[in-house]
Amino acid sequence: MASIEAYLIVLSVGELLPGIYHYSLVSHGLELLDGENPSGWFAEACGDQSWVLGCSAAILLCGVPARLAWKYPMPKAYQAMLMETGHISQTALLCATAEGLECFCTAALREEMFEERIHIQPLDETPLLLIGIGRGRQTYD
Ligand SMILES: Cc1cc2nc3c(=O)[nH]c(=O)nc-3n(C[C@H](O)[C@H](O)[C@H](O)COP(=O)(O)O)c2cc1C
Repeated sequence: MASIEAYLIVLSVGELLPGIYHYSLVSHGLELLDGENPSGWFAEACGDQSWVLGCSAAILLCGVPARLAWKYPMPKAYQAMLMETGHISQTALLCATAEGLECFCTAALREEMFEERIHIQPLDETPLLLIGIGRGRQTYD
């Protein structure tokens, strides 16, 4: 899945402190990017969908089209990037379900809010899809 970067947005997970983490493809581990609790801005960044605050953590998938553009002429690079996003998302949803966790995905993102917090430039790397996972805490308005 060469074109995708994944970020973990932790709201409430046992031993993992709230914040934003980057999943490193090099170390196969998490790197802390920001230790601030995301619950203050997370729902707004998800298009004011307040129910997203019920998840424990979310995986934000971002695409880097240049990683495919050397191989595929446009627009194939974009097609492949979006297909990779869908495959990763579906796998994450299946894994969450197999673990007995609740999950959703949303594309209703305020991309600029995520770009600012994970320090990416939109022409290089763009937020595409967010997968929320949790135990269904009831925090609806
Ligand atoms: C690509 C994609 C984007 C989605 N975006 C949203 C969204 O922005 N808001 C939403 O309520 N559901 C969205 N959904 C649907 C949710 O993932 C979920 O299926 C829906 O909220 C129904 O949840 P339920 O099946 O647990 O009832 C999206 C689904 C896909 C595949």
